[in-house]
Amino acid sequence: MSAPRRVGIAGVGYYVPERVVSNADLAQSLDTSDEWIRSRTGIRERRIAAADQAASDLGLAAARQALADAGVAGESLDLVIVATASPDMVFPSTACLIQNQLGAVKAGAFDLTAVCSGFSYALTTGAQAIAAGEAERVLVVAAEKFSGLLDWTDRATAVLMGDGAGAVVLTSDAPRGEILASVLGADGTGIEQLGIPAGGSAQPATHATVEQRLHFMKMNGPEIYKFGVRIIGESVAQALAKAGLPESALDLLIPHQANIRIIQSAAKRFNLSMDKIVVNIDRYSNTSAASIPIALAEAKQSGRLQPGMIVATVGFGAGLTWGANILRW
Ligand code: ACO
Repeated sequence: MSAPRRVGIAGVGYYVPERVVSNADLAQSLDTSDEWIRSRTGIRERRIAAADQAASDLGLAAARQALADAGVAGESLDLVIVATASPDMVFPSTACLIQNQLGAVKAGAFDLTAVCSGFSYALTTGAQAIAAGEAERVLVVAAEKFSGLLDWTDRATAVLMGDGAGAVVLTSDAPRGEILASVLGADGTGIEQLGIPAGGSAQPATHATVEQRLHFMKMNGPEIYKFGVRIIGESVAQALAKAGLPESALDLLIPHQANIRIIQSAAKRFNLSMDKIVVNIDRYSNTSAASIPIALAEAKQSGRLQPGMIVATVGFGAGLTWGANILRW
């Protein structure tokens, strides 16, 4: 049996909506303050999509940038994977909407739901398709319009999330961003901690579900916080070991942007100074699956990613789910 082919990141892209909503803006309609939000989460502002922008529009803009960065045409893609928990509609998939707009006529396309771990899952799945010889060029998009899933009267959740999208193009001949190891995990005993109760087949939409505000995100914040702190450390350590690397080899950490205090605890766990961690939660808040590829694209575009660097990406979220990837840039 031949060894699996290497897979690398040939291009990156991201898109965030134009509208900036500050903490002070939210404090006009919610019983909250800039001071509370900044000190508890690290968030200063977030981007909120326009009413006529759906997740596919955000994802398409990120995808076009990633394709241009890679010098790859949409027609040459073999697979389009879209990680999203805020798809345009239940079905058809948001991946098919993006595939159509890109003219990716020979690509298979599907959505993947792992919420804030969605990019980690999609990157791993896309890389495996190439490694197995089933695809040459894979587009991975993470696109979220969480503003449509939030209860804007609930200060405990409304202040945390924003909209945005990121994308990467994976190929077997990319000179950078080789995926060295991946770790995916799930713990379904945590289903109650974070989710949207209604709108699926268990509780289809009725007047009652709307009146009870069951179509919005509900979260046990403190439990998710503890989970995030623990799982970043565990999964990145596991992925580094799988790649055959010591923890000291880590040059840059790109964590899911859920809370600056969770990110600071990861810095402590891996003895990293904050300049070795990509942070943009202050500007974008938590964009769920999109937060890692947005941070990755910003890191590349600003020259923070240097050839040879060992980079870890790590996501965690509802399910509960988690995923870590080790890259050699
Ligand atoms: N403004 C002011 N006060 C608030 C706000 C707000 N926006 N939100 C909550 N409070 C109050 C609470 O009511 C509570 O008041 P009380 O003590 O009088 O009851 C107090 O602040 C403390 O609330 P806690 O929930 O204990 O605050 P905590 O320090 O834990 O911070 C937070 C809450 C920021 C949500 C934190 O728990 C957290 O970041 N959790 C992880 C969130 C996360 O990672 N989510 C991932 C979602 S991603 C996905 O998969 C969709």
